[in-house]
Amino acid sequence: MARIPKETVDQIIHHADIVEVVGDFVQLKRKGQNMWACCPFHHEKSPSFSVAPSKGLYKCFGCGKAGGVVQFIMDIEGTSYVEALKYLAKKYGIDVQEEEKTPEQQLAQNEKDSQFIVSNWAKDHYHRLLLNTDEGQSIGLSYLRQRGLNQATIKTFELGYSLDQWDDLLKAGEKQGYERKYLEKTGLVVAREDDQGHDTGRRYDRFRGRVMFPIHNVSGRVIGFGARTLKPNDKTAKYLNSPESEIYHKSDVLYGLYQGRQAIRAEELCYLVEGYLDVLSLHQGGIKNVVASSGTSLTDGQIRLIKRYTDNVTVLYDGDAAGIRASLRGIDMLLEGGLNVRVVLFPDGDDPDSYIRKVGDQRFKEHLDNASQDFIQFKTDLVSREAAQDPVKKAEAIRDVLQSIGKVPDPIKRQVFLQQTSQAFGIDEQVLISEYNKIVRTSTGKASGSNASGGGSSAATGTSASGNARPAPRPMSPEEEAEALMYGAMPEDLAGGDVLTAPKEDLEPVPDVLEQCEREVVRLLLLYSPQPLAPDVSVAQYLLQQLDDTPFKTGLYADLLHLCQEELEQGRWPEVRTLIQHGRSDIRALVAELATEKYELSPNWTTHQIYVPRELDLLQTACDNAILRLNKINVERELATRLDALRHPLDDATMMEHLQTIRLLKQMDNQLASMLGTVIPRASM
Ligand code: CTP
Ligand code: MN
Repeated sequence: MARIPKETVDQIIHHADIVEVVGDFVQLKRKGQNMWACCPFHHEKSPSFSVAPSKGLYKCFGCGKAGGVVQFIMDIEGTSYVEALKYLAKKYGIDVQEEEKTPEQQLAQNEKDSQFIVSNWAKDHYHRLLLNTDEGQSIGLSYLRQRGLNQATIKTFELGYSLDQWDDLLKAGEKQGYERKYLEKTGLVVAREDDQGHDTGRRYDRFRGRVMFPIHNVSGRVIGFGARTLKPNDKTAKYLNSPESEIYHKSDVLYGLYQGRQAIRAEELCYLVEGYLDVLSLHQGGIKNVVASSGTSLTDGQIRLIKRYTDNVTVLYDGDAAGIRASLRGIDMLLEGGLNVRVVLFPDGDDPDSYIRKVGDQRFKEHLDNASQDFIQFKTDLVSREAAQDPVKKAEAIRDVLQSIGKVPDPIKRQVFLQQTSQAFGIDEQVLISEYNKIVRTSTGKASGSNASGGGSSAATGTSASGNARPAPRPMSPEEEAEALMYGAMPEDLAGGDVLTAPKEDLEPVPDVLEQCEREVVRLLLLYSPQPLAPDVSVAQYLLQQLDDTPFKTGLYADLLHLCQEELEQGRWPEVRTLIQHGRSDIRALVAELATEKYELSPNWTTHQIYVPRELDLLQTACDNAILRLNKINVERELATRLDALRHPLDDATMMEHLQTIRLLKQMDNQLASMLGTVIPRASM
């Protein structure tokens, strides 16, 4: 196991700024003390993901993911603790001196890390072959040059070349000490099967004699490859791509995003193209805010990825009608994702790559500015042109456009689009709106059908939809509907059912009362330890004294309590900043949760401040409350056990002893109850 020295870990954590780190992956907007964004860990349309810079924490109130900088990288990248630290070290230019490791030790870290490491090595290997071998230079490099790519682009995108041999990579990899297992898992090496499909035990390289395009994830790790053949009449596909693996999920990857993400955020715009070479040519021409879907149709995952960086997408497609028709569906998905979509077409036969090389950077940029069209407008033009003189086709075309408008989540934008469309087709807006409502209705009907039969994940929605909790609303007249729509109702609001509304949050199991109490004690310790309750008594002292070594029953809380005690023994206050970096993930998660719990004693609380008396009173109350409740519950438990014991046959002496204890416990219980009655109960309990 690789070890990073404690001092280095501290240094990394000290330097890493949570806003900067998280900001590389999502668009953060300040609201009050915290920063907010749509959560990168689950699908949502309004932000419930928050970053608290003062606490060094992130937390999503939607899906519950929370933690510090290191945890964030672990979550978003799916890497181990050590790899996350290394990522941060690289970002902040901190030298990580690990103990010398053999490749096997490196590989031992964990499965995913091993696959990252092998992929990264392969990328370097292919890059070396491209630049430093005769074959690489004369075949690979000369091809890239002929396609107009310069040294800088080749370097930025870490392009490479695979030798035209069966086992170059396999041999080189094994020589370096990489296990076959990982070469295979990443798809770099393929098992040879016999006619019956049985493994022959022999292995060969997947990529041979091709230009290699490493595919990076958002943080710059290589996760797979695209590989273009250089043989004009190759019978195999023009492109071979890495297969899906534990680290490569095609549907969640956009080529060029790593190299372009800063520009996308700066320009507040993302150009979407189809091919690797389109990305490369545009990037080289100074248009760096560009990504490619890599030939496949757009996926939800890719759209969410774009949305982390910007709300604006311009789709650059080549001009032929068939190509455009095929991409309309993908564009509808962009609309559905809440993105503002524009479209730029290129003259027939040109794609972005060929066009920029034909007209040069400057004219290309002008074209982007001049020829870009709002998507709805574009679609309207396209279908109305196709439908020109044919009334039946025209009606269809209108419906087609209305379908797209129905995908736009923002009611105001929908309104504007409806106006535009009514003008474009020369149709009364009111008529268009009622037509629109009909369409929205039927498509909602369809959604409900598929939902009911969908089973699985939609089960919860299905129940809430078919349950009779809400009476079905009275159907609206078309006029009412249109009016509601004007005032911003969502089509699903009008559709007469709650099929499309999000499922109610699952009811969380209510924690055991004892657990609740123990949790409250550690929460107070963690957040308020240094606060003075009396001139010489801090919250920490008070709580620990009151606890009087009563052991906690919930393992995790006991552990955190213990950690807080350790900090105090070391002469430090227990602090979120320190404990959030703990080696155990359950501790980190707990600390994050406690530190970001929705309620606070008072909105003005922060840890190192002096408080007005009223707030100190509140804190005293909270401490008393927690301790008393904890004691009471312990007493109650003990009481219950003793009472239970009485049901079994006992000898007289034991019986007497039990009865006495029970009497005592009952007294304590009453006393505690009356003491608790004098402290104001907290709303959350
Ligand atoms: N693609 C693929 N497999 C294929 C063909 C295409 O994965 N057999 C993907 C690649 O990601 C490619 C994209 O679809 O980049 C667009 O295809 P195309 O326009 O044909 O390729 P270009 O990248 O433009 O390459 P070139 O200009 O060299 O033809
Ligand atoms: Mn091309």
